[in-house]
Amino acid sequence: MTATQLLAYISVALLLQVAAGVAFAVWRRPATVGAPAPASADEVVTAVTGAWSGWRDFRVVRREFEDAAQTQCSFHLQPVDGVPLTPFQPGQYLTFSLKTPEAVAGAPGGARTITRCYSLSDRPDSTGYRITIKRALAPADRPELPPGLSSGYFHDRVHEGDVLQVRAPSGHFFIDPDASVPAVFIAGGIGITPMMSMLRWCIEEQPERLVHLYYGVRSSGDHAFKQVLEDLAAAHPAFKLNVVYGNPGADDVLDRDYQHLGYIDLTLLRRTLPHGRHQFYVCGPPPMMQSLVPALREWGVQADDIHFEAFGPASVRPAGPVTNEPAVANSASIDVRFSRSGRTLAWDGQDANLLDFAERHGLAVDSGCRTGSCGTCQTRLLSGAVTYADRPDFDILKGHCLLCVGKPQSALVLDV
Ligand SMILES: Cc1cc2nc3c(=O)[nH]c(=O)nc-3n(C[C@H](O)[C@H](O)[C@H](O)COP(=O)(O)OP(=O)(O)OC[C@H]3O[C@@H](n4cnc5c(N)ncnc54)[C@H](O)[C@@H]3O)c2cc1C
Ligand code: FES
Repeated sequence: MTATQLLAYISVALLLQVAAGVAFAVWRRPATVGAPAPASADEVVTAVTGAWSGWRDFRVVRREFEDAAQTQCSFHLQPVDGVPLTPFQPGQYLTFSLKTPEAVAGAPGGARTITRCYSLSDRPDSTGYRITIKRALAPADRPELPPGLSSGYFHDRVHEGDVLQVRAPSGHFFIDPDASVPAVFIAGGIGITPMMSMLRWCIEEQPERLVHLYYGVRSSGDHAFKQVLEDLAAAHPAFKLNVVYGNPGADDVLDRDYQHLGYIDLTLLRRTLPHGRHQFYVCGPPPMMQSLVPALREWGVQADDIHFEAFGPASVRPAGPVTNEPAVANSASIDVRFSRSGRTLAWDGQDANLLDFAERHGLAVDSGCRTGSCGTCQTRLLSGAVTYADRPDFDILKGHCLLCVGKPQSALVLDV
């Protein structure tokens, strides 16, 4: 065979291989749940190395409830393209784009696309992910309000075989791999999810590391991962389990179902933790975050040893200044122009962020997490500068800003 013939032979073989690959990918690609809009130009899926940008299709391969009351449901996901996943940092979350039908969105005239973040609830695994979602009910004092949109959609409409659009793991709340410092995980309710990921990772990768879990729930009804946690504690002496019930049921037994009665507070931590340095990881409802994080600081825990994540609008501010940018004086009013709606409003420092400010003045802006995580409120900044109390999780595009965690540093013109 001549060199030219050999070259032609290799070229034809390569072309056939590429064509077969494309045909296989098309054949495997199923219909997507809620038929989300096709990926836009800046949402290109590049799943060739296991890492990706933009949205990637994941199939739900299993779903299972994690608590007796069936309010917390795990969804096991695998990439539709079959490319192995690169490891994430235990504690990070995934971002989902869901196109909820009109019946769910409650929006007459059509479906609605929403973006939500959910923490990975198991240790890294190259074949798939697990998330665990709590159904969000209407607030107890406002029962007339609609229940949570995304969590209700997951619980009621997402089934095995369905395909979801997912952004790659992200977030700055994850375990410090220094095995010499014991870790203390403090979780309230569904705040257990990132702790499950960190805990499973520690047990697998650093079995000698001392790990304490304080997990607060009402009773055995909403006690998620109960058997799993008890089995892990029995099998791994370095893992110390402290379950705290606020309102035990009639059949709940102290020292069998739970170890402490009441709430997780400094008194409990001081009584049960050994002396010495610890790294604290806190995730729970606003009252728990608001009391515990400042209490840890007052106890003398170094800021670097306190890590926390809020699942809703940020409720705890880090101690001390976290930005070098000058603070906006409350008295000085700053002009914020919303160019599309043609309105110029005076920012007087009353609002926590530009999203609250816009909404208070009746401007409709898309939002998802309201914590700087999902990117839904990213807006083109036509002029001016926006400041952030701390670095948002989402990587903001050049020339844009995040309204949900940003405040004006100077007069602004926003593309809203
Ligand atoms: C980084 C991160 C990680 C997260 N990880 C998890 C996780 O692992 N598991 C998990 O379950 N959640 C997690 N969350 C929270 C999750 O993203 C959603 O916020 C949660 O599921 C609620 O969303 P929803 O669409 O169901 O509720 P929404 O529709 O956003 O409603 C939220 C609440 O507001 C109420 N409400 C509705 N209308 C009004 C109104 N007009 N006025 C006032 N209140 C109203 C609803 O009844 C509901 O209680 C995480 C969030 C972040 C930011
Ligand atoms: S709403 Fe998610 S980043 Fe602003």
